[in-house]
Amino acid sequence: MKKILITGGAGFIGSHLVRLFVNKYTDCQIYNLDKLTYAGNLANLTDVEKAPNYHFIKADIVDGEKMISLFESYDFDQVIHLAAESHVDRSISNPMEFIMANIVGTVNLLNAARHQWKNDFTGKLFYHVSTDEVYGSLGDTGYFTEETPYDPHSPYSASKASSDHLVRAYHDTYKLPIVISNCSNNYGPNQFPEKLIPLIINNIRNNKPLPVYGEGLNVRDWLYVVDHARAIDVIFQQGKIGETYNIGGHNEWKNIDIVKLVCQIMDEKLGRENGTSEKLITYVKDRAGHDLRYAIDATKLQRELNWEPSLQFEEGIRKTIDWYLENQQWLDEVSSGHYLKYYEDQYQNR
Ligand code: NAD
Ligand code: TYD
Repeated sequence: MKKILITGGAGFIGSHLVRLFVNKYTDCQIYNLDKLTYAGNLANLTDVEKAPNYHFIKADIVDGEKMISLFESYDFDQVIHLAAESHVDRSISNPMEFIMANIVGTVNLLNAARHQWKNDFTGKLFYHVSTDEVYGSLGDTGYFTEETPYDPHSPYSASKASSDHLVRAYHDTYKLPIVISNCSNNYGPNQFPEKLIPLIINNIRNNKPLPVYGEGLNVRDWLYVVDHARAIDVIFQQGKIGETYNIGGHNEWKNIDIVKLVCQIMDEKLGRENGTSEKLITYVKDRAGHDLRYAIDATKLQRELNWEPSLQFEEGIRKTIDWYLENQQWLDEVSSGHYLKYYEDQYQNR
């Protein structure tokens, strides 16, 4: 039976990918390796945790020896690597954690795979999941393609760019069979409420200010998380070894427009008078080094592997809001304790 290792499977995107793989590949063993940082939550996976082909391993990818011993014990065939520190604002206040998890952690996994697979790469794959933020910032026009030169600006994007380069270097140098995808901003159920969309939903339900950085004019290209998981599956199955694939939603929004849309839908769902939540919008100090615009050209993925997003944004955002309103206990649990301290530190001087 094939053994597939998914790192970061207790996080936002990882949990959707683990669910997809556990349910779809019942003839494979799926191993979810996660350190369970503040962003990792096994409550995201209660529906699959008892499946006979699902296994959880609590481990830190920064521990290189541990990675080697896990590869020796389990002899994984294929790896999909998502584990990372993922929040730009945290990377600005604490870059070192990002260097360790995103760069050193990735190299540890590459080394462990090389050590275990030796030079026999038959049926092996190291799939590295990355972000469009490695390409830097666009002006008002143009798109990121797979050929766009890397130009990261935040410690987060620089650490992801660095890990992408290392993954490619292991392919070029050691012939390790790799594939990389770079995706735009994800939204959907189970996203930790420090990222824009769940933070806005959480604050509206608690009647708290909605912090919009700068003038809210920065643009992001939003993709529903389940569509990202579908894209990873397609690339995992059919992607060409050594290649990069961009994944995006063709769905650009200014931050302020997204916040207003969420306000409007939340008013409707909570039975509040239209315009109530918009009054909570508060413009705050901009993020340092804030990239103006991200937009992905996902033509290659569409043309070569026949993937495209399945959900329109309006439908996806409504599904997302419904999920958070139906799972308020999940929101309460993740937004207590350490979260409150983070929130206070992050927003007190803005
Ligand atoms: P997330 O923060 O929700 O989850 C990250 C997971 O990795 C958590 O479960 C955490 O416990 C785990 N983790 C962190 N450090 C670890 C370590 N040292 N050892 C083991 N596990 C560790 O992140 P996400 O939004 O689900 O992103 C997943 C991946 O996708 C990341 O690599 C990210 O760069 C990439 N990505 C995210 C987006 C997005 O919009 N969220 C877009 C494109 C790419
Ligand atoms: P975020 O969800 O942190 O994703 P990323 O920085 O990876 O794109 O932020 C999305 C956009 O929303 C980004 O331009 C920053 C902005 N933003 C706010 O305006 N207010 C907030 O409280 C947060 C968290 C983000």
